[in-house]
Amino acid sequence: MIDERAIADHFPHRPRGYFDHAAVSTVPVEVESAVAGVARALGRGTRGSSDWHELTDDVSVLLADELGVAATAVSVLANTGTAINSVARAIPFVGGDEVIVLADDFPSPRMPWHTIPGLSVQEVATTAHADRTTALIAAISPGTRAVSVTHVHATTGDVLDLARLHDACVSADALLIVDGAQAAGLFPGAARHADVYVAASYKWLLAGFGAAVVATGERFDDRAVPGLIGYMNEPPSPRLAVGHSNLFGMAALQAAARVRQGIGLEAIRAHTLSLTRRIADGAADLGLPPAAAEPASGIVSLTVADAPTLTDRLKDRGITTTVRDGALRVSPYLTTTHDDVDLLLSALTELAPAHHPHGGHS
Ligand SMILES: Cc1ncc(COP(=O)(O)O)c(C=O)c1O
Repeated sequence: MIDERAIADHFPHRPRGYFDHAAVSTVPVEVESAVAGVARALGRGTRGSSDWHELTDDVSVLLADELGVAATAVSVLANTGTAINSVARAIPFVGGDEVIVLADDFPSPRMPWHTIPGLSVQEVATTAHADRTTALIAAISPGTRAVSVTHVHATTGDVLDLARLHDACVSADALLIVDGAQAAGLFPGAARHADVYVAASYKWLLAGFGAAVVATGERFDDRAVPGLIGYMNEPPSPRLAVGHSNLFGMAALQAAARVRQGIGLEAIRAHTLSLTRRIADGAADLGLPPAAAEPASGIVSLTVADAPTLTDRLKDRGITTTVRDGALRVSPYLTTTHDDVDLLLSALTELAPAHHPHGGHS
């Protein structure tokens, strides 16, 4: 169980009725002093360097533990998109090689491959409620060199079975590249089932903009020939970081990881899933069906008529949600309370009749 009063101490600026953590999450107050601490250390120039070295080592250990990999496997790049583009440019493809993506996936894991000369990209189309893991595995062929996907789908909240997908990739001698932007923080140990796993700082890691944590495994490192080179990854290094990482972002990641890990990753996951299940069940009872068969992440996507107007009407009632692919995306997290869910469900009870997916009118 999450102690809501203890949470309030970490998040004094927590907005009530906030259901948009899949866009940008609330940041704990500890991040403020952590970032100020970096500025203080840098104020002493290289004389503050022992502080930075301690910070960079510690953040690697904290995040590696959480992702289920060794600290040496972790680096910090600018953002998820940059990381996946760097990965795409580091795999030595030859003519006829193929990469598999999901046709309706977020652009960051899907688009970078289209820009690699000579590479064939297979976009696998799936339907609502399809088993996306099975569809991806079925698409793997002898020419497949990589599969690049989001762990948790940014619109529907669907969760891929990475263990099963990774086994299939290993059997086919293909790499599994995972965009964990909507998952990291809620799925401890997930990077064990990927050759590259990328986690964005500003969503479920609660650390604000400015960094992406990248875990690479041996199967990637053994093949990688980075396309972006600097003094930190001179050949034959497989490392993707070409220069210094964002120290402020790392301090934020460290402070947020300590808060999250102090509360307990399993407790946070259980709390979040209890909220998404309540929202999905409550909305389904009101005739607004969730896109995913069973909520298993922090995202619930509701099929509604005229989602933009519904979002505005919720906003008028102090409730923040968003529209993605024509659906109402609702994303609670650690700082969301059951009172917030009561507020949302009572607003939806009032508004649902005008927004039923078939026959709703505004
Ligand atoms: C699945 C997914 N990947 C990547 C991103 C963007 O991440 P970044 O800004 O770190 O590139 C988002 C943002 O919403 C996302 O949902």
